[in-house]
Amino acid sequence: MHPPLTVYQASTHEIGGLFPLLSASPIPAVGARIGYDVLSGGAFYCHPVEFVLRGICTNPNIVVFGEPGKGKSSTVVAFLLRMMLFGVRTLISGDVKGEYTPLLRALGITPIMLGRGSHARLNALDLGPLAARWDSWPVARQREELDGVLGRWVQLLVALAEAQGYTPTVTDEAVLSAVLRRLVGATDGYTKLRPITIPDVQRELANPASSLWTDMRFADRRHFLDHLRSITDALANLISGPLAGLFDEPTNFTLDWDAPVQSMDLSRLRSRGDQAVAVGLTCLGSWSSMVTDLQEDGDLRIVVRDEIWRQMRLGLRAVQAVDSELRLSRAERKIQILVSHKPSDFLSVGSTGSQEVAIAKDLLALCSTRILFGQSTRVADQLADDLALSEKEQQVTTGWANDRQGRALWKLENRTGFKVQTVLSRVEKRLFDTNAQLRKPPVIT
Ligand SMILES: Nc1ncnc2c1ncn2[C@@H]1O[C@H](COP(=O)(O)OP(=O)(O)OP(=O)(O)O)[C@@H](O)[C@H]1O
Ligand SMILES: [Mg+2]
Repeated sequence: MHPPLTVYQASTHEIGGLFPLLSASPIPAVGARIGYDVLSGGAFYCHPVEFVLRGICTNPNIVVFGEPGKGKSSTVVAFLLRMMLFGVRTLISGDVKGEYTPLLRALGITPIMLGRGSHARLNALDLGPLAARWDSWPVARQREELDGVLGRWVQLLVALAEAQGYTPTVTDEAVLSAVLRRLVGATDGYTKLRPITIPDVQRELANPASSLWTDMRFADRRHFLDHLRSITDALANLISGPLAGLFDEPTNFTLDWDAPVQSMDLSRLRSRGDQAVAVGLTCLGSWSSMVTDLQEDGDLRIVVRDEIWRQMRLGLRAVQAVDSELRLSRAERKIQILVSHKPSDFLSVGSTGSQEVAIAKDLLALCSTRILFGQSTRVADQLADDLALSEKEQQVTTGWANDRQGRALWKLENRTGFKVQTVLSRVEKRLFDTNAQLRKPPVIT
């Protein structure tokens, strides 16, 4: 009996050498072709949703770690450009360094710029597409959507207060929720929604209507004011601080959600300090997730959170917000990509054993695809612990991956990692050149 094997015949003229023990990559050839797997020599593809559908991963989220300049953002760009061919759109949820802007411009898209010299304003409490769709919904749907939005807004305001150093209480949250409901007009018959801004909320807290403090069971106005002083002041600081005018006025631009890639460039916010950037990222995150939630096109979307560590620094609520986005990604057909330098960036949100750290640790579990670029030995030890890397895999991240840009160990859940070299096209290299600033000739005045 002959075994049922395919027989190939070729002369030694065509085949210089044959090594029979190589197997093809078990990763299916679907989605974005990233580069090549150096062990098998075959092309390496990435389609996180297909990974989930084919049982390779349990969730479609991606986390990217690596030292600065190793090619993390470039690989993300290669991925999103190549997923564009499949009609997948991308949102860059806060581009802190303004790196994605030339790419968008080349695609004929104008990114939103916030900060110095820009007139763009984004109301952190923007109703987004909710206002336009409102009238077309039955009352039950209106209530449901509004509850969702109010919940997000409360979380956002709480996170912003935390960024000012005050941790809101449950009473603060209940009052914020009641104030938002009143201001938006949801208590008086659900007819039309009124647009609101953070200063409106702060004013209502500083000068409450008597029905508000009675409804919320405060003994008198003084009792209400004393109890809510800290949250009121935290919101006031936001309005008068370094972010004044950016997130507390009505939104004055429209975003083309049908564009293949959208981005919010925060590079001009950097001069206002790290805190301002982190708060900016939080406002954007909240706003963009609300808006993408309401897109009912059923299309897949990629949400890129580059330099996520900046946002995580804000504390518990900021971490919780990221956590809930990651948990919802399967239901909402989103691929969330978190980019950071090392896992401990996630853990610097609080003290060891704190709730923040516990949630931040879970974030890793919520990202089935881990792309590990070059690391120093010190960080690699921690990486190996957190991601259960074998000794060989750990050596790949400290050795091989460090030798060239674009090299990374792709770890899909608990499978043995793949050594992948991202290959950029000439056009991609030109459009996404994060070293461009270094190359600029000095300006002679
Ligand atoms: N696959 C690649 N092939 C060739 N060159 C690359 C590749 N990936 C990155 N580079 C080069 O390395 C530079 C830095 O890459 P990139 O900005 O993606 O790094 P990064 O890891 O995101 O850095 P940072 O942590 O500072 O954001 C790019 O401008 C590009 O010139
Ligand atoms: Mg980068």
